[in-house]
Amino acid sequence: MQIATRVTRAGIPDAAQGAPFLPGPVFAAPFHAAGEAKDAAYVYARTGHPTWTRYEMALTELEGGQACVFASGMAAVAAVFGAVLRPGDRVVLPADSYFGARALVDGFFTQMGVTVVKAPTAGSAQMAHITGARLVWLETPSNPNLDVCDIAAVVAQARDHGALVAVDNTTATVLSQQPLALGADFSVASDTKAMSGHSDLLLGHVAVREPAWLERIVEWRTHVGATPGPMDVWLAHRSLATLDVRLERQTANALALATYLRSRPELIAVRYPGLPDDPAHDIAARQMTRFGTVLGLTFADRAAAEAFLAHATLITEATSFGGVHTTAERRMRWGADGVSEGFVRLSVGVEHIDDLLADVAQALSSVSRVEP
Ligand SMILES: Cc1ncc(COP(=O)(O)O)c(C=O)c1O
Repeated sequence: MQIATRVTRAGIPDAAQGAPFLPGPVFAAPFHAAGEAKDAAYVYARTGHPTWTRYEMALTELEGGQACVFASGMAAVAAVFGAVLRPGDRVVLPADSYFGARALVDGFFTQMGVTVVKAPTAGSAQMAHITGARLVWLETPSNPNLDVCDIAAVVAQARDHGALVAVDNTTATVLSQQPLALGADFSVASDTKAMSGHSDLLLGHVAVREPAWLERIVEWRTHVGATPGPMDVWLAHRSLATLDVRLERQTANALALATYLRSRPELIAVRYPGLPDDPAHDIAARQMTRFGTVLGLTFADRAAAEAFLAHATLITEATSFGGVHTTAERRMRWGADGVSEGFVRLSVGVEHIDDLLADVAQALSSVSRVEP
């Protein structure tokens, strides 16, 4: 069956007369566990929880490797670093990854004796630094620059050097890109974004190629307590059934907007891996089935970007991405991504494309043309 079909039922229990399709969230911290509690399926909600189990079954089926849910994307990212890295190890990070992942390594793991090397995602430049590394961390397409690296090529080289490979798959989602099938050891995502898609919860997950790693990842989650609440996990699971249709509409809208915006003289540049002449397109087309929901727009300066955002009515100014509502933000307001003052990350939602195009056109009328 196609993944678009499987995602509608993934993790849903077999039919039972009178039972709901997806049982509701279980609200419990301790569970009944008398005497020798070893045989109890659940004992305490930090070590295991029935609502997680169903969502993890769904993720395991979609990822093609056992999955473990976390309280947020960063909790999932931290679990891989925490389970893998030891003093003296070297980790190769994308210089342009989500800034939180870099801040975590720079601020904490380096103090524990881990060495970090950073190289850009574009051109798979991290490959030049794999010798001697314990872990190669990829993020493709990268947030917010939307560069892409060749996962299979990095994996092949990492194998030769005994390094593990983790892919932050947040911008693509497992429906559009399958890191484990491309050979990665870990597939990591912030399910806060398109996976859950409604901008109403924080969640993350890790899926592993080798089951032995799952034990370490779960151990980390249990000891750190990076555990999600049942309502959030249930909402994410409920939202999985529409992931394929959401992505279908959002990526079609994203391509239509990218195609229109790149023809407009008010912008300096438009990045979207789905544009045939985008620098990321060729590799993206090889390893992704869809090109994502996010665009990178470069306006001449901060004032132009702010004017565009202020005049758009269907583009809600907010951080995060991947949700059903179109949102955008000027990334330099955080100062951490190394982008220009006029850079706007646009996350495209499910609205009707005619309305989005009309809104973007009227918002651009507040922006001066860039002098050629
Ligand atoms: C690529 C990427 N990875 C990880 C994260 C962290 O996810 P969360 O905010 O759910 O902790 C983000 C958040 O923006 C992200 O963009």
